[in-house]
Amino acid sequence: MEYKINTINDTRIIKLPKIQNPKGNLTPVHNSEEIPFDIRRVYYLYDVPGGETRGGHAHKELEQFIVCPSGSFDVILDDGKERKTIKLNRSYEGLYVPQLIWREIVNFSTGGICLVLASLPYDENEYIRDYDNYISFREKLSAE
Ligand code: TYD
Repeated sequence: MEYKINTINDTRIIKLPKIQNPKGNLTPVHNSEEIPFDIRRVYYLYDVPGGETRGGHAHKELEQFIVCPSGSFDVILDDGKERKTIKLNRSYEGLYVPQLIWREIVNFSTGGICLVLASLPYDENEYIRDYDNYISFREKLSAE
């Protein structure tokens, strides 16, 4: 398996189409068009109690596109060297997170929803859930 040692500079906000209408707005997302991978799974976080942190892991192989269709939350991105926080609060954009980026999702507003489009089915084996393991996994790959 060839792993991609991405950094937080490889993450980016991607704007989505917004079809405006006085009766309400609509945003479509097409497989492999707006986002740089094929969507194989969709899941969403909701009813997140105030002050809770979600995420707290990296994925070895998975790419994700994180959207906030309602409310707001912050995504903390970390590549072991640099860390940045991205606020998501617009329904017509999302955050592309490639492989091997540590992420934490915090500061959920009341009613905040985190919609995740993912490039692979769920597989616990491709998670790295311990930050120290994450750092050593990256260091080992970089040394190869
Ligand atoms: P996890 O990915 O740790 O959630 P988060 O990063 O949002 O805090 O997943 C939480 C639990 O849900 C864990 O037991 C695995 C399970 N799960 C699935 O069964 N399928 C899925 O697609 C996802 C994302 C999680």
